[in-house]
Amino acid sequence: MLGTALLPCLKSELEVVGVDLKDFDISQEAAVQKAFRDLRPDFVFHLAAYTDVDGCEAKPEMAMQVNAQGTRNVAKSCAEIGAVLLYVSTDYVFDGSLERPYREDDRPNPISIYGKSKLGGEQHVRSLLARHFIVRSSWLYGPRGKNFVATILKLAQDRDELRVVSDQRGSPTYTQHLALKLAKMLRIHAYGIYHMTGAGSCSWFEFAQAVLKLGGLDRVRVVPISTQESGRRAPRPANSVLENCRLIKSHLGALPHWTEGLAQYLKEGQHVGDFVLPSSGLGEKPLPREVTGVTTVPPPQLVEERRGVRLVIVPHAQPGCGDIISDPRAPQLIQGVEVEPLTQFPDDRGLFAELFRFGEPGIGRDFDSANGSRIQVSFTISYPGVIKAIHYHFEQTDLWAPLSGMFQVFLCDLRESSPTCGRLNTIFVGAQRPWKLRIPPGVAHGYKIVGTNSGMLVYATNRTYNPKDEGRIPFDDPGINYDWVTRPK
Ligand SMILES: NC(=O)c1ccc[n+]([C@@H]2O[C@H](COP(=O)([O-])OP(=O)(O)OC[C@H]3O[C@@H](n4cnc5c(N)ncnc54)[C@H](OP(=O)(O)O)[C@@H]3O)[C@@H](O)[C@H]2O)c1
Repeated sequence: MLGTALLPCLKSELEVVGVDLKDFDISQEAAVQKAFRDLRPDFVFHLAAYTDVDGCEAKPEMAMQVNAQGTRNVAKSCAEIGAVLLYVSTDYVFDGSLERPYREDDRPNPISIYGKSKLGGEQHVRSLLARHFIVRSSWLYGPRGKNFVATILKLAQDRDELRVVSDQRGSPTYTQHLALKLAKMLRIHAYGIYHMTGAGSCSWFEFAQAVLKLGGLDRVRVVPISTQESGRRAPRPANSVLENCRLIKSHLGALPHWTEGLAQYLKEGQHVGDFVLPSSGLGEKPLPREVTGVTTVPPPQLVEERRGVRLVIVPHAQPGCGDIISDPRAPQLIQGVEVEPLTQFPDDRGLFAELFRFGEPGIGRDFDSANGSRIQVSFTISYPGVIKAIHYHFEQTDLWAPLSGMFQVFLCDLRESSPTCGRLNTIFVGAQRPWKLRIPPGVAHGYKIVGTNSGMLVYATNRTYNPKDEGRIPFDDPGINYDWVTRPK
């Protein structure tokens, strides 16, 4: 990620060679030596690392091999050919116990394998080379890389709520802003350690809130959670804010505030396909692309298999809505899906609706706590144009009842063993058509709010929500080829 931002900052004035893992592996000493002898660089930016912080905890040997030993190999080869080395290190070399931002001369004390391996790299650089820079940065985000901003935007596409850690503080840093500073280090001779991060600081929770707000997705609720609740494998410092003392004292000056970097990334990240922001309105998705000239239909594609139950997507050559169900007893209904009129008792005080009645037949027949089954009742509100997650369950049956607005409900049978496998149903339900639906496991479902009013949906499930029971498919999956556009038919 950082390498992609750095290369264009260097190219105009210098002869630059960018190398990556495919060119050589830094943990292989002979390979590094050979490459450096062939290329004979004057200045080396060493950004390569095993950066998966939780992965390092699972594979400590690999972390040490790449981040510590690999850096030793790079530093040794730089010493041999007389090159200056700039090594990018991390805020995770600190334990996070200080109550002020960390300065360059504060004592590192990493608490994770990743932090230890990166500190190992720093120690090799210091002991092998006089002419070196160690640049510690933090919380990087930018185009072409797995990063927090892109992850939050991706999750927000199909969730109403995100849980984000609020007890870790740091400084988000836009790779483009850091890269511009790194490029300037070529002209500096005051070697040693530099802290370089976006100005200001925040918690991951505040960072997520800013991402959603600037990204036009603040309908998604962010719930603060503790580090312990997050269940991440690697320990992380509670405070890893870095004071950029040397940078500010030098004529290079501070990096822009992290919120400026964020605004810039949200513009730029879209062009490189890191994420798609709502084109207009809250959470509105682009229309499905036109599909022309499709002549062959590929075979069914397995999406998940559990305990011998296979869920598959049967590709559809032409975009469409499948069978539009306008009668609750329509024979085209996907097997196991049931539709019933919503029982309503309107009176002059307002509307009362019943999702099901204990012990009575119908779509709620086995949603009966007297039988020992667990029932969770929830509701959700969505806005015009929003497509709500297309998901499916292995265990859970859903009962849906729209109370207001108008819904284009999408249903697709993924069960390979079902006689209606691959069938698409579209059902328009809502205030003008008060129907309730029973959706069995293995039937993917989602909806779009049509018209101009928001929509409210009440739903009951026969178990407590468990993300492990849920799988998702993209709203514009080319295999399903579903047409979300509501046209008069
Ligand atoms: N991301 C952050 O929040 C953060 C914060 C502070 C400091 N840093 C440091 O900043 C630097 C750049 O981070 P980034 O986020 O841009 O990382 P990144 O996107 O993961 O890039 C690291 C690069 O190193 C390559 N690499 C991994 N193992 C290698 C090996 N054995 N030999 C040669 N190349 C190897 C990776 O190749 P593959 O993609 O093929 O694996 C990848 O291209 C790293 O040194 C990191 O420790 C990052």
